[in-house]
Amino acid sequence: MRIIRTTQALRTWQRRHDPLRGSIGLVPTMGALHGGHRALIRHARRTCGTVVVSIFVNPLQFGPAEDYRRYPRDLSRDLACCREENVDLVFLPKAETLYPHDFQTTVAVGALSQRWEGEHRPTHFQGVTTVVTKLLNLVRPDRAFLGQKDYQQYCVIRQLVKDLDLDLRITLCPTVRDADGFALSSRNRYVTNTQRQRALALYQALAAGKQAIAGGTRRADLVEKKMVKVLDAGHGLAIDYLRCCDARSLEPLTRLRGTVVLLGAIRVGGVRFIDNLIVRIR
Ligand code: PAJ
Repeated sequence: MRIIRTTQALRTWQRRHDPLRGSIGLVPTMGALHGGHRALIRHARRTCGTVVVSIFVNPLQFGPAEDYRRYPRDLSRDLACCREENVDLVFLPKAETLYPHDFQTTVAVGALSQRWEGEHRPTHFQGVTTVVTKLLNLVRPDRAFLGQKDYQQYCVIRQLVKDLDLDLRITLCPTVRDADGFALSSRNRYVTNTQRQRALALYQALAAGKQAIAGGTRRADLVEKKMVKVLDAGHGLAIDYLRCCDARSLEPLTRLRGTVVLLGAIRVGGVRFIDNLIVRIR
C-alpha cells in the first residue's frame, strides 16, 4: 500500500496510473475509520481496479465553535485498516498542503446546502465541497463512494459533480449500524454510554416514521408527529429537525409520494447526532 502526502507526488502518481489497471475509486474520509468506512472501501474494492482512500480532517468544514481540535485522530489504526482492506493508495495531506497560507478560493453549492444541516452549520458544506473538489481534481477518480449516513452531504456533492461537469460517478452506500440500529460514526468515540442510549431514540423515531408510512400514512405532519413522540424531547435532548423530505430536492413534503427521506438531527448534552432513512412509496 502506498502512502502519499504531497499534491505533487499525487499528481505524478495520477499521471503514471496505467488505465489497464482498471478504474480509480476514491473513498474520501476524515479518518478514525470504522465499519461504515470499511463498507465504502469494500464497495470500491469490488468495483474498481485501484482504490484510493483520503484521510484528512478538513478544518474548513468545522465551525469556529465545533470540534476540529478534538476530532478523533488515530493514524496507525487507520493505516492498518486500509492495509486489511487492500487499499492501493492512501492520500494523507497536511492542512498546510491543501490550504497554503495564500489559499483564497471556495466552492459553494446553493439552496441544497443551505437547508437542514446548512441552517445549523452555516459554513459546513462550503468546507466539504471545497475539499471534495480539490480531492477530485487531484485523484481524478472514475468513481467516488459516499455513505448514506450523511445523506445531505451526498446530495450536495452529487449536485456539485453535475453543476461543474465533473467526470465521475458517485455511488451511495447504505448506512452501517450497530445491532440496535445506532449508526456508526467517528464521533461516537467521545460519546458516553448514557448519551448513546438517549441518542438511539433518533434511529427509533425514524424507524417509527418509516413504519407509519409503510402502514399507509401519507400526511407528512402525522408522520413527523409520530417521530417527535418517539423521540420525546426534553431532559437534555433537543431536536434540531425531524422532517419528511423529497429525497432529491430535500424540500419538506406535505403529502408523501415517490422517494422520501426522513431526516433527523438531535443534540444530547453537547453532542449532535444526525441520521436518516429512505422510504420508497409505490
Ligand atoms: P467522514 O465523516 O470520515 O465520512 C467519510 C464517509 O464515510 C462519508 O461518505 C460518510 O457518509 C461515510 N460514513 C460515515 N459513517 C457511515 C456509516 N455508519 N455507514 C456508512 N457510511 C458512513 O464525510 C466526511 O468524512 C467528510 O465530510 C468528507 C466527505 C471526507 C470531506 O471532508
